[in-house]
Parts: sequence; C-alpha cells; structure tokens
Amino acid sequence: MKKTENQMLVIFGASGDLTARKLVPALANLFIAKQLPENFVVLGASRSNMTDDEFREKVVLKSSYLKEKFKETSKEDINDFASKFFYEDLGETYDGDYSELKKRIHELNNEKNTDGNIMYYLSTPPTLYEPIAKSLSDAGLNTQNNGWKRIIVEKPFGYSLDTAKELNNGLQQYFKEQQIYRIDHYLGKETVQNLLVTRFANSIFEPLWNRNYIHHVEITNAESVGVEKRGGYYDKSGALRDMFQNHLLQIVSLIVMEPPIGDDPEEIRNEKVKALKSLRIMKDDQVLHDNTIRGQYMASTIDGEQVKGYRDEDGVDADSTTETYAAIKFFVDNWRWKDIPFYVRTAKRMPTKVTEVVIHFKTPHHQIFKDSGLNNKDNKLIIRIQPDEGILMKFGVKVPGQGFKVERANLDFYYSSLSETHVMEAYERLLLDAMQGDATLYARADEVEAAWEFVDPILNYWKNGENVRMYGYAAGVWGPENADELIEGIGQWRNPGPNLTDDPGYCVIC
Ligand code: BG6
Repeated sequence: MKKTENQMLVIFGASGDLTARKLVPALANLFIAKQLPENFVVLGASRSNMTDDEFREKVVLKSSYLKEKFKETSKEDINDFASKFFYEDLGETYDGDYSELKKRIHELNNEKNTDGNIMYYLSTPPTLYEPIAKSLSDAGLNTQNNGWKRIIVEKPFGYSLDTAKELNNGLQQYFKEQQIYRIDHYLGKETVQNLLVTRFANSIFEPLWNRNYIHHVEITNAESVGVEKRGGYYDKSGALRDMFQNHLLQIVSLIVMEPPIGDDPEEIRNEKVKALKSLRIMKDDQVLHDNTIRGQYMASTIDGEQVKGYRDEDGVDADSTTETYAAIKFFVDNWRWKDIPFYVRTAKRMPTKVTEVVIHFKTPHHQIFKDSGLNNKDNKLIIRIQPDEGILMKFGVKVPGQGFKVERANLDFYYSSLSETHVMEAYERLLLDAMQGDATLYARADEVEAAWEFVDPILNYWKNGENVRMYGYAAGVWGPENADELIEGIGQWRNPGPNLTDDPGYCVIC
C-alpha cells in the first residue's frame, strides 16, 4: 500500500451539499480503512458563519450520511475523526483577501504537523475557480517551496470549448497543470477502471478489439430519477453537458484508446487524448440531424404515482428546450475503428438506473450452420458499470438434439462475488489518489478540451440549427420512440434491466 504523506485538505464551499454528501463520507471510509495520513487536517472554508464545533456537528457528528458507515465504529474513534475538522469563515466573498485564511492554515500546519502539504478542494461553482486560485496565489498559498500544493476542481469544466479553455488558462496562471486535478467521479468507479484491465490484461479480448471483429459499440447511461432539486442548474446544462461531455466520453476514450506503453498516468492520459481527438467531429447540419436525437421527459404515471414533466420541475423554464435525453451516433477516424458506429445515449426518467457498455461482435465471417437460427445471436460482451457490477459474455451453444440449432448462453462475472474485497466508492478512491499525487484517474486539460471539441458542434446545432426537433417521451419509458431509428438496420438499443442477466440466455430447466 502506498504511503500517504501528512497533509491538510482545505475545502472551499464546505458548507455546501457535496461536502457532507460525498467528501466527508469518502474521508470516513478512508479513516475506517486506516488510510488517512498520520497527521491530517480538514479545514472547511466558505461564507457561512460557523465555529469548528458547529462544522464538526454538521458534517460528522450529526450527519445523516455517516450514520450507516459509523454503525460499528466506537464513539471514541468517531470523536477522533471529528477532531480533524476545522472551519474558517471567508466572510462576504470567495475572491477577497486570504490573509486570515493563511494565518489559520499556518497555525494548523504548525500545531498538527501537516508538513506544509495542502490539497485545495474547490466545491464551488466554476465561476469561482479562477478567483479562488488568484486569491490563493496573492496570499502565497500556492508556492511549493515548503510542501506540495494541489488543487482539485469539480465538473463542469466549462460550458463550451471556449469557456473550458478560459477556465484552464485561468487556473494555469496560478497552478501548474501537474498540480491541477479535475475530478470526474466516473473514473473513480471500479468498473470503469476495469475497462482498461478487460482490454489490456486479456489476450482473448485485445486481438478482437477492432473493426475486423466488432460490429458496433453501444453505451447506455440511464437514470430513473428526474432532475430532482437541481432544475436551475440542469436547465442551463442538459444531458449532453451534464453527462456526455465528461463521464460518457471518458468511458468512450477507454474503449477507443490504443494500448499505452505502461500504466504511468501520463502514458494513459496521452492515449486517452489521442482517442478523443480521433472522434469524427460532425459539422454538417444534415449529418448532425441524422446522427443525434434529443428529448425531454413529459408528465406520466409510474407505478401509480404522478410524475412531473421536465418543464414543470422547479427551476426549469416553462418553454425550456434543454434535453433530458441525448443519443448520439458517431465514428472514430483511425485504423482500429474505421466504419464502426458507436451509439451512446444518456437520459433522466428512464425505466431503471443503469450504465453499461455493450460490445457487439460481428457474425462469423464464414457460416457453417445454415438455418441455425444464428441471426441476431452474435457474441456480445456486456460490461456493466452499475448497478449489479459485472461482465457478461453472450455466446452461441448448440441446442441439444438433431441438427445444429444455435442458441445464446451467458458467461457472467459479478463484482459482488468478490465478497472479501472492499470496493472503494468513487470519491474515496479519487481523493486517496490525489492525496498520493496519482493523477491517472483525473482529467487533463487537453482531454477536457478534446471532449468539448466533439460536443460543441452538436450543442450549436441543437441551439441554432433549422428544424431541430425536441422529442417528448413519457417519464418512465426508454426515451422517444424514434430513438431506435438511429440504429436502424442493425436492430435496436439493448434496453437493460436492473440485473445484468435480465435475459438469462439459453438454458434448459428440465
Ligand atoms: C453527475 C450529474 O455528474 O452524475 C448528475 O451531474 C447525475 O445529473 C450523476 O445524476 C450520476 O452519477 P451516478 O454515479 O449516480 O451515475
């Protein structure tokens, strides 16, 4: 196990929801697993007026997010964990003078021996990233002559290619790229990282991972919830910005990338950038029309319960044209993937919550078994990111009896079967990596910009193109009916259930 150096975590926006909901629970997991450094301090900083004790109560002692985690932890240990938390009120604004904050950081560093190492976590709106970085720099809190300094920023990284560039340039004025950690929580998911292992540690898959054997690739990200309490944010964002530009294109890059030279973070990230740059950018209106579909959920009744339509959600404009469903077909311009379509969709208010990748293999080039029923029974590799995390391989087996009739059967693996292994939660894994200076699972500036380069023309077309349709779909169904037209000719989307093996494949019960 790598050693984590003594350090201080300064969280900007500490009174917000993310701190209590994600960051502190991740730290609690690390604490329980004894993975926090020996000397470790969390300093919350935001504009609310709170004492250290009030902060501890809010995010640790009275937090509903920790109840379950601390069920078997002693009172003494919980108090020990809480005693690592401190709070500093930043006053009116985030972009003011940080001399008080600096004083507090120095005091805590001396008192708790955190060796001058500081991780700044910006859990604030992105508009504050540059002002906070500037104020830290003005106070000399970014210099690395006495301990390292790192800065973690949350998505969204920009609203478009231009704004992403501005954001990157703004941060890079005060922190070097190696100090900047852009968090994408999908990269913290064990199953997303396993995409690399599935591909590059198995000689049964890698030789087939190309246009000669793969027919098409399908990625589905579905959520059963609507926009919940985030209507205000979501209405300015939409499915493409909220999920596709970041999380889903990260998954795409891991599927598309060439093998890296080794597992060094920069080598892996170089290959991911190359992969993103090889996505064919759609510029022509007709191409954009034929290869993209957007939709919005409408009011309906799910399991006897009335569900609001998107336009009726709090914070959403009554005439909103923001998409809650996006499906994109695209190609990758390189040797490996020439002419192989990728179909990626993401949406809210679907029948279930699921994220999965389906690799559809081609029909065998030479078919021996005529009239075997082989059609549409090609091999599929289903990589389940969540829930019911696992891998499912669909392959042909002979139906017992005369002749050669072929049916499809399943070979499956479930993470849950590794009962001895603790699967880290995404934020837990990512925080620990950053604390140890490992940026493999963080997005680099050029990666983020390459993703925006692909997404920008789609957003522009949806906003300004002529005759662009917004399709309605009833909350609780698999999106607009015509979404299947995108994959016309090769079937339909695989609409997965909550369990990986929702159709068990061929089996003989008796
Ligand atoms: C976030 C999006 O990044 O990811 C949310 O802003 C979305 O809209 C969430 O609900 C989904 O994350 P997960 O891990 O539950 O799939």
